[in-house]
Amino acid sequence: MKFFIDTADVEAIRELSTTGLIDGVTTNPSLVSKAARPLVDIVREIADMVPGPISAEVTAIEAPQMIEEGLHLASIAPNIAVKVPLTFEGLKACAALSGRDIMVNVTLCFSANQALLAAKAGASFISPFIGRLDDIGEDGMALIEDIRIIYDNYGFDTEILAASIRNADHVKNAALAGADVATVPPQVLHALVKHPLTDKGLDAFLKDWKTTGQTILNKG
Ligand code: G3P
Repeated sequence: MKFFIDTADVEAIRELSTTGLIDGVTTNPSLVSKAARPLVDIVREIADMVPGPISAEVTAIEAPQMIEEGLHLASIAPNIAVKVPLTFEGLKACAALSGRDIMVNVTLCFSANQALLAAKAGASFISPFIGRLDDIGEDGMALIEDIRIIYDNYGFDTEILAASIRNADHVKNAALAGADVATVPPQVLHALVKHPLTDKGLDAFLKDWKTTGQTILNKG
């Protein structure tokens, strides 16, 4: 599974990029508004820092303008993935941009039928929003499972980018369901590492080691 970081906070990305665990970044207009900086500056800085796909979302709602915005965003760096919403206009823009060998991430996906259309439109990534489906009492993970079956049935290359991830269980279950990518907020990535028994076990190891009086590096 690939891990993307779901934020426009450049400093948070910089810190996590040193772990070697980050395969890409996703942003959206709400995350950019939180960063309170020009979108192009944020995306350029992230694309310089992280070699994997960097998703930057168009804000037009008609295909011609989406395509124009998408071409501009894609010109920022070779690893930009243009994000378009799952609407008819977004699918038309996806087909046009993917036809020009530009990576496209089709976002705001909430049904398997939407995901099927995005794959047919040439999407590089489909972003089903798990958390927002859970928020309304639906089963977000079932959507990942359904998309996986459909894409495998027809050999679609579109990668399933599990999004709207709120906790470590979402990551585990998305991996079990066969998602290709999980895009996670920084705090969820940190949560993946933590387990109380790991902390407890390490404390016990170090306490017992200390009684030996030894050091591994015999520095004078
Ligand atoms: O960035 C796309 C998606 O991950 C947004 O998640 O938490 O706003 O539903 P969320």
